[in-house]
Amino acid sequence: MLRNLRLHVEKDYSSMSQQAAEIFAAAVRANAITAAKTANPRPAYGFATGSTPVGMYKELILMHKSGNVNLSNITAFNLDEYYPISPTDPQSYRVFMRENLFDAVGTPPENTYIPDGQAKDPIAECAAYDEKISKAGGIYMQILGIGNNGHIGFNEPGASLMATTWHTPLAQATIDANARNFASVNDVPRHALTMGMHSIMMAKQILLLASGEGKAEILHKALCGPITTNVPASLLQLHNDVIIVADQAAARLL
Ligand code: F6R
Repeated sequence: MLRNLRLHVEKDYSSMSQQAAEIFAAAVRANAITAAKTANPRPAYGFATGSTPVGMYKELILMHKSGNVNLSNITAFNLDEYYPISPTDPQSYRVFMRENLFDAVGTPPENTYIPDGQAKDPIAECAAYDEKISKAGGIYMQILGIGNNGHIGFNEPGASLMATTWHTPLAQATIDANARNFASVNDVPRHALTMGMHSIMMAKQILLLASGEGKAEILHKALCGPITTNVPASLLQLHNDVIIVADQAAARLL
């Protein structure tokens, strides 16, 4: 494994969540001091949805409430959103983030950005999203999960990858994996708007979480295998500051 990847292996999901929250909170505290002196006093962070970061978000809420970290003063950019989907749909990532983090820590809605799943012109929406990230001064730390197929955001394995935020079809494997959150597999939107690989790789630091036996093989491929568009997460090997927090089950093959 490369030196630019720092790996924390934790006993289980709960300690993985705690460790990830501590790393994230430490970054928020440190960056708040530097950012106060810049044109962007609300540093931007990148958030992920899915089941993996839910425990970390719970820990962050506790830390915020006990005064250990202030999450009301950040700018948030989410990796992705289904397309099409209404921002009030219970399965939308907008609702997910409000329910799992933003409402509890009081991040003002005007400082939480998620691609608009109802945009009439998705291509223009994607271009505007990258522009907003850049205006916010870039992302200090990007939280990531990893798909069973090696996707990050909704950048699915394939012959090529996209650099900037884009309108993507979802891989069948992703539709099947995410069907657990919908009434039926037919209700899973077939597309998404997702930050592209360059948009993700531009974050100063990456914090990737992985939990469970089901992620062991793909995590090993991503971190120790060849860099390939067929495993989008393998491109993280080219980033110079990646922190991986995995539980023992997910880290089994590393
Ligand atoms: C979610 C996202 C996805 C998930 C990945 C893992 O915003 O971008 O890449 O991180 O699908 O999902 P879970 O955590 O549910 O296994």
